[in-house]
Amino acid sequence: MQVTIAGVTLRSPVIAASGTFGYGVEFEEIVDLSKLGAFVTKGLSRAPMEGNKAPRLIETSAGMMNAIGLQNVGVESFIAEKLPKIRKIRDVACIANVFGYTIEDCVAVVEKLNEADGVAMYELNASCPNTRHGGMTFGTHPAMLAELVVAVKSASKRPVMVKLSPNVTSIAQMAAVAEGAGADVVSLVNTFVSMSIDIETRRPRIKNITAGLSGPAIKPIAVRMVWEAARAVKIPVVGMGGILTAEDAVEFLLAGARAVQVGTASYADPRAVEKIATGLKRWCSSHHVMKVGDLTGAMVI
Ligand SMILES: Cc1cc2nc3c(=O)[nH]c(=O)nc-3n(C[C@H](O)[C@H](O)[C@H](O)COP(=O)(O)O)c2cc1C
Repeated sequence: MQVTIAGVTLRSPVIAASGTFGYGVEFEEIVDLSKLGAFVTKGLSRAPMEGNKAPRLIETSAGMMNAIGLQNVGVESFIAEKLPKIRKIRDVACIANVFGYTIEDCVAVVEKLNEADGVAMYELNASCPNTRHGGMTFGTHPAMLAELVVAVKSASKRPVMVKLSPNVTSIAQMAAVAEGAGADVVSLVNTFVSMSIDIETRRPRIKNITAGLSGPAIKPIAVRMVWEAARAVKIPVVGMGGILTAEDAVEFLLAGARAVQVGTASYADPRAVEKIATGLKRWCSSHHVMKVGDLTGAMVI
């Protein structure tokens, strides 16, 4: 079940996705973390953030909308309070998800994390508004994405996985831009911009008005995007979006993903990631797949 991504060996290709698995340590007593390949932390910013006002999370048909607003403890308290506990967890890699509203903010977070042990890789969240450019999302503008990736890569002592925004016309183009700027891995998809209105009150159901859609509702779009991205780049692609079962994970691998992440499923069942990892192992043995890596890009046309 082992896969190697940007020099980091994971014992399973199944990873817990950012924002749905706390800082990993909170799940230690519920989930057998050694069954996972890795977990990605909640996005870390230069300073702590409180996030948006409620309601900021609702259920939809086959999915979930959230506008948490990137609430997090900030990189300094992550290093002081969470990392010492994370270091004690053996056999699972910790990937630190990083974001900022300017390039300097992202670089500052990475520079702080560089000094600490216990992190295997960074995941750079490119779905963040750039406040220097009128709030335009880094990951929806090729030149801005390239500038961000170049800066973070040159500051980083660790491999950088760039998490692409799906809210673009050509995901293949954005994946190629990230690769050209030095990304070691690309991950996709982040959530899709969405909106919902309560027709009785005529108010938006989410205080922020727009929110990110995730869960099974987005899976077919995510599979298509992973396939397009994987054809456009040589670096590994990590796929996600609506994975609930081991079979869903297989679909992403066949589309070209080297590993997968599981997000919203953890809200329905906190042990979902572990179950998907053990289920994938079982699926491989029942289907005579010797190495899980053999599934990557193995779709037959
Ligand atoms: C409540 C919530 C919080 C999230 N927070 C982050 C985050 O901090 N950084 C990030 O890169 N992605 C974040 N995501 C996106 C997920 O990591 C994932 O890309 C997305 O939800 C699609 O996968 P899924 O359908 O399996 O949930 C968040 C998703 C949810 C539902």
